[in-house]
Amino acid sequence: MKKTVFKTRFLKKDEIISLTEEVKFFPDLIYVSERIWKKQKAHIFEVDNRFAGVIVAYQFNDWVKLGPLVILNKYQGKGLGKELLKYAIDRYSQKNIFINSTNPKVERIAASLGFKKKLSFLSLPQTVKIFLLKHSFEYVGIKTIREAIRKRLTGRRSKRLYFIRFSP
Ligand SMILES: CC(C)(COP(=O)(O)OP(=O)(O)OC[C@H]1O[C@@H](n2cnc3c(N)ncnc32)[C@H](O)[C@@H]1OP(=O)(O)O)[C@@H](O)C(=O)NCCC(=O)NCCS
Repeated sequence: MKKTVFKTRFLKKDEIISLTEEVKFFPDLIYVSERIWKKQKAHIFEVDNRFAGVIVAYQFNDWVKLGPLVILNKYQGKGLGKELLKYAIDRYSQKNIFINSTNPKVERIAASLGFKKKLSFLSLPQTVKIFLLKHSFEYVGIKTIREAIRKRLTGRRSKRLYFIRFSP
């Protein structure tokens, strides 16, 4: 049986390289700056002592934004994405939680974990809107724009959806 472990730690250099390579081929993740992977400790999933996936959490006020969320290709489709998201949600159960994604798998997981779907940026709480705008100013650069155009031309992507779960 495979040994699976969750850890909260900084990503290693070779893990960031694998993530950057794989993200190039994911239609639903446009681009993730190395600064995002390096900036803080992330929640990491290991299978048999090998890095399998990661989720980044940003805390602001009484909120936490979860994502980017990535399960490396060879580990996808085995329930690990849902496990990792559940793990992160448990850690922040006292906070309001926010996720946004165009990936239908994320929509399915979020619905099964009690998140409410919001269809537009404008319908989000003010604090979340301000956070997202600041985050975009900090991280959206020329590479993000280039990748957004490339992926728009070459792949399929569903509409961006927002998911919210208020603290109990
Ligand atoms: C999105 C991602 C994290 C999901 O992880 P995963 O391990 O592949 O997903 P899981 O095996 O946990 O499956 C999640 C659910 O999606 C469902 N699913 C699978 N394919 C699906 C599809 N095409 N459409 C909708 N739901 C789908 C599964 O049945 C499962 O639901 P269930 O538990 O009710 O059966 C992973 O695929 C990934 O890293 N993708 C690339 C990066 C990305 O797009 N990240 C999200 C943007 S932040």
